[in-house]
Amino acid sequence: MVKTKVGITDTTLRDAHQSLLATRMTIDDILTVASDLDKVGFHSMEVWGGATFDSCMRFLNEDPWERLRKIRKACPNTKLQMLLRGQNLLGYRHYSDDVVDLFVQKCVENGIDIIRIFDALNDVRNVESAVRATKKYGAHAQVAVSYTNSPVHNTAHFVELAKKLKAMGADSICIKDMSGLIYPYGAYDLVKGIKEQAGLMVQLHCHYTTGMAAMSYLKAIEAGCDVVDCAMSPLAMGTSQPADETMVAVLQGTEYDTGIELNDLLAIAPKVKEIRSHYKEFDLANPGVDPTVLASQIPGGMMSNFLSQLKAANALGRIDEVLAEVPRVRKDMGYPPLVTPSSQIVGAQALLNVLSGGRYKMVTNEVKAYFQGQYGQPPAPMDEEVKKQIIRDMPSITHRPADDLPPYLDEARQEIGSLAKNDEDLLLYVMFPQVAKPFLEQKYAG
Ligand code: CO
Repeated sequence: MVKTKVGITDTTLRDAHQSLLATRMTIDDILTVASDLDKVGFHSMEVWGGATFDSCMRFLNEDPWERLRKIRKACPNTKLQMLLRGQNLLGYRHYSDDVVDLFVQKCVENGIDIIRIFDALNDVRNVESAVRATKKYGAHAQVAVSYTNSPVHNTAHFVELAKKLKAMGADSICIKDMSGLIYPYGAYDLVKGIKEQAGLMVQLHCHYTTGMAAMSYLKAIEAGCDVVDCAMSPLAMGTSQPADETMVAVLQGTEYDTGIELNDLLAIAPKVKEIRSHYKEFDLANPGVDPTVLASQIPGGMMSNFLSQLKAANALGRIDEVLAEVPRVRKDMGYPPLVTPSSQIVGAQALLNVLSGGRYKMVTNEVKAYFQGQYGQPPAPMDEEVKKQIIRDMPSITHRPADDLPPYLDEARQEIGSLAKNDEDLLLYVMFPQVAKPFLEQKYAG
C-alpha cells in the first residue's frame, strides 16, 4: 500500500445522514455497507454520537448501544469515531461528572476508539471532564473547536485555544466548521498556526453548505492538515461533507495521497445511493450550495426555523428584521459560535426581540441562564447593560457550570430501578428520561 500521507474520516454513517436524512438511517441499512467501508482504509469512520443516540430511541426504536456493538463487529479494521457535546454528552444540558465518566467508559467499552469532544462556546472547562475520562479509558481524545467568524474569532484566537486544549490533554484538534464558513486561505493559515504552535495532529471537518469545503480541505492539506472528513458521494455535499471519491481522486499520486483506491469507493457508492432512496420523506434533496450563508452566517437549520415560526406568527414579512437582529444578539452574548445549543438560544431571542415590541422586553429562560453564566464563558465579554437588564439581581456564576452539579448516578439508579438491566440502560434513562422509560419497558416486555 502507498504510504498514507493524508487520512480521511468517513462520516457517511453519522454526520452525513444526520445532515441530509434527519438522522434516520437504520442499523439494517448501515450494515449493508459497514463492512465494505471498513475495508477501504479510512483513517476512521464516524458512526455514532451527535444526534444518532437520541434518534435511535425516539424515532427508530433501536438501542443506540446495540447499534454501536453491531457496527463494531462489522468493522474490525477501522477506528470508530463519535461526536460528543462535552459536558452535555449526547443531550442538551450539562450532566454531572460521574455521569460523564460512566458514559465515556461505556462508549469505549462498546467499541469507540476516537471521541471528538466539543463545546458550543469553546469553553475549555466544559470539555475537561470528558477529555479526562476519554484518556482514562484508553481512547483518543480529539477536541473540536467550534469555528465561527466574529470580531474576536481570528486565527490567533483559535491558535491560542488550541494551545490551551493541548495543555489540558487533547490528543488532537479538530476544526469544526458546521456552516461551511471557513475560507480556503483562512483554513491554510489556521492549520499552519495550530500545527506550528500547538504541535498537534489537526483534522478539518467542514460542511459543504457554501460550496467552499473541498477547496478549504485542499489548502488545509497543503498547510499540513492530517485528516479531513468526507462522506460517500450519494450522501455528500449540500449540508453534508465533501465526497470521499473527490478528495481521494484530487490527492491521488501527489505527496498527499490517501492510499485509498478510488475503485473501491466507486464499487460502494451504488449501495449508499440505494440506502438514500429509502428515506425520501426525510430527504432534504441536496440543497446544493447556499451562498447566502456567506453573508448572513446564519446556518440553514436556523433559517428554516425562522421562516416556520414567522409564518406561524403571521409575520413572514419581518424576516429581514430578524436576520439583522441575529448579529446584534450574538454581539450582546459575547459572540457564541452558532451550533447546538447556542444557535437555538440566539435564534429564539432574536425572534422575540423583533416580535415582542422591544429588545429583551421578553427573554427566554435559556437566555437568562446564559447571561447568568450557566452555559459557561462566552468567547468575548457579554454586554454589561443587557446583562443587567436581563438578570437584574439574580446570581451569576463565573466558575465551571458543572461544579454546581452533585453526583447523580446513585439517584438515577434508584429512579429507574430494575427497569435498567445494566449501565447502558441506565445511561439511556439519564440522557433522555421520558423517551428511555417506555423504550426500556418495551425492550424487556414479555
Ligand atoms: Co458536522
